[in-house]
Amino acid sequence: MMICYFTASGNCLYVARRIGGNLLSIPQLMRQDAIEIEDDAVGVVCPCYNCEMPMMVREFMRKAHIQAEYFFFIYTYGAGFGEAYAHAKLAAEEEGLTLSYVNAIQMVDNFIPYFDMQEQIDTLPKKNVEGQLEAVCADIDARKTTDVEITDATRAQMAMYRKRLADVWLKKDTALSYTVNDSCIRCGICAKVCPANNITVTPDGVRFSDHCEVCYACLHNCPKHAIHMPLEAGTTQFRNEHVTLNDIVEANQ
Ligand SMILES: Cc1cc2nc3c(=O)[nH]c(=O)nc-3n(C[C@H](O)[C@H](O)[C@H](O)COP(=O)(O)O)c2cc1C
Repeated sequence: MMICYFTASGNCLYVARRIGGNLLSIPQLMRQDAIEIEDDAVGVVCPCYNCEMPMMVREFMRKAHIQAEYFFFIYTYGAGFGEAYAHAKLAAEEEGLTLSYVNAIQMVDNFIPYFDMQEQIDTLPKKNVEGQLEAVCADIDARKTTDVEITDATRAQMAMYRKRLADVWLKKDTALSYTVNDSCIRCGICAKVCPANNITVTPDGVRFSDHCEVCYACLHNCPKHAIHMPLEAGTTQFRNEHVTLNDIVEANQ
C-alpha cells in the first residue's frame, strides 16, 4: 500500500503512519518531473482547507499517474469538511480513477485566524482521535467502499467554497502579509518546513515569496514563534504530539 501525504503541523503525517504502508511526501513527489504510483491500494492523506483539498494536493492529483485497484482519500480536519468528499471524488474521476473510499478524521484545527490552539489542544480528547483512526484503519484493511452522491446542490456548494478559497483563504501571496519579530534567529527552519519552497532565509532576515500554500507550517513550527499573520485567535503554536519538528522538516524539505 502507498500513502501520499501532505502535512503542515503533523496531523496528516501521524494519520498516514497509523494507516501504514509506504509513505510518500506529496511536496517531494511534486518536485519530480513525472509521478508514477502503482500498487494494489493507494491513498491520499491531506488536511481539509476551506472544505477542499490543499492546492498542492489538487495539482498532485492532476500530475500523478496513479494506478490502484483500491484508491482512497482521508482528510484530517478540525471543525467541518463540507463537500470535501465530493471534491475528492471528482478530482479522482477527472484523472480516470475511481474513488473507492473516503473518510475524514477530526483532529486539532490548526487554522490560527479562527482558533485558539491551546483551546484546540485542551478539547482534543473529546474528538477521540484514536477511536476514529481505528475505525478508518479497519475500513481500509477490509477494503470498504463508500459512495459519494453528487447533486446540483453539492456542485453549487463546491463552487462557492472554491471561489472563497481562491478569493479569500488560499491566496498564493498570503505569506507576503506575514511578519517576523525580533526573536527570529535566522535558523532557517521556516524554509525547511515550507512545502512550497516559498521562504528564503539570509543573515538579513526571512523573505516570503508569492507561491504560499497557506498551510501555516512556518507559523506553527518556528522554534522561536517569531512568524505571525495579521489575525491570530490565540498565542499558542500547534504540532501533533506524535510528530517531531525533524519529521516535518524531512517531510517537506
Ligand atoms: C488554510 C486552512 C484552511 C483550513 N480549512 C479547514 C476547513 O475548512 N475545515 C476544517 O475542519 N479544518 C480546516 N483547517 C484545519 C486543518 O484541516 C486541520 O487542522 C488539519 O488536521 C491540519 O493537518 P496537518 O497538521 O497535517 O497540517 C484548515 C487549515 C488551514 C491551514
